[in-house]
Amino acid sequence: MPVSHLVVAPEPSGPAVPGRRGGPRRLWGWAAGRGLGVKLAQPAASRVAGALAVVALAVGIVSGGAVRLTGSGLGCSDWPACTRTSIVAPLQYHAWVEFGNRLVNVLITLAVASCVAAALWRRPRRRDLVHLSLGLVGGILAEVVLGGETVLNKLAPPFVMGHMLLALVLLGTAVVFFHRANEAEEPLATRPGQARPARLVWRVGGPQRAAATAMVALTALVVTLGTVVTGTGPHAGAPSVPRFGFSLHSVAQLHANSVEVLLALTVGTLWWLHRSGAPAPVLRRAEAVLAVLVAQAAVGYTQYFTGDPVLLVGFHLAGATSVVVAMVAFYLGLYSREPSRTVQTGGEEHTAQPLVKALGR
Ligand code: HEM
Repeated sequence: MPVSHLVVAPEPSGPAVPGRRGGPRRLWGWAAGRGLGVKLAQPAASRVAGALAVVALAVGIVSGGAVRLTGSGLGCSDWPACTRTSIVAPLQYHAWVEFGNRLVNVLITLAVASCVAAALWRRPRRRDLVHLSLGLVGGILAEVVLGGETVLNKLAPPFVMGHMLLALVLLGTAVVFFHRANEAEEPLATRPGQARPARLVWRVGGPQRAAATAMVALTALVVTLGTVVTGTGPHAGAPSVPRFGFSLHSVAQLHANSVEVLLALTVGTLWWLHRSGAPAPVLRRAEAVLAVLVAQAAVGYTQYFTGDPVLLVGFHLAGATSVVVAMVAFYLGLYSREPSRTVQTGGEEHTAQPLVKALGR
């Protein structure tokens, strides 16, 4: 069912701004003259903004890790310019790692701002997208505060852990925003110009949903234990940073054991989904989760047996972001949105049917 048949026709432009000339209004007038309002009002703008936010946050997690792993936290001696005399970093390795990470943070800010703008200007407007985009803004602000506290507390592990875990939550939220921006929707009869997601229809039964929920919960545990391993391990980001007093061997073992349980649960759930005739999109996403988990576990074990080399830790970070994206996408793929009314598609009339009913379940 093409989404485009389910949405209310876009209005020609976003909210009107009275014509007095001055700073922001002048900027708006300039942007409106180039059709920015019309473009932002298109539902496609939220999809693009959501995709940008997912990519920017994933890159930001890896580039933030690169700063820690290469000990480049003081690569730039000033802020927001890199040095007292230059905005751009001088041609030095540490300066460019730190400066590159700052550039990625600008990209993240722009991507999240574009999610807010696209959600506010969207026609029809969707409250869920507005709330999600504001959640992303709140999360970024919290990251700024937490980042500052992390530095003030001399990279103490609990702060580094919190910073990393919040970044992964933000990444998951951006995936939800992107997914929802792609969903079928229905106009709100009581509020012209507004819409809500179409009716939710689960593609799999309750027990399989419970298994998928357990997979998501276990992923949260695996990731949290991973950050404890980092807080115990050798890559603190700077000399004389306090470490958790655990045995590195024991916490890494615990982290790996939780991964083994997650892998077993994923294999079992995938088998169950196949057996119960789950639709192809659900199976594809579950297989993607398994593939990413196996690759990540392979990197993790290689790291463990080769003395935790920096390059592999970097790959492990990229793998952790992929696991989170794949897992959230898998969970969101367990349902579809079905219109609860008769719709027009290409001149033909179809009565929308819930997928579970259509599959005879
Ligand atoms: C699904 C698979 C896995 C996920 C999602 C995962 C996730 C993570 C995360 C999020 C971190 C913290 C990164 C940071 O805070 O910078 C981490 C660290 C770590 N993980 Fe995993 N991990 C997985 C599998 C494994 C396996 C199987 C091992 C094998 C023992 C392993 C070994 C490690 C080690 C040694 C670290 C510390 C790296 C450092 O020194 O910073 N991981 N993991």
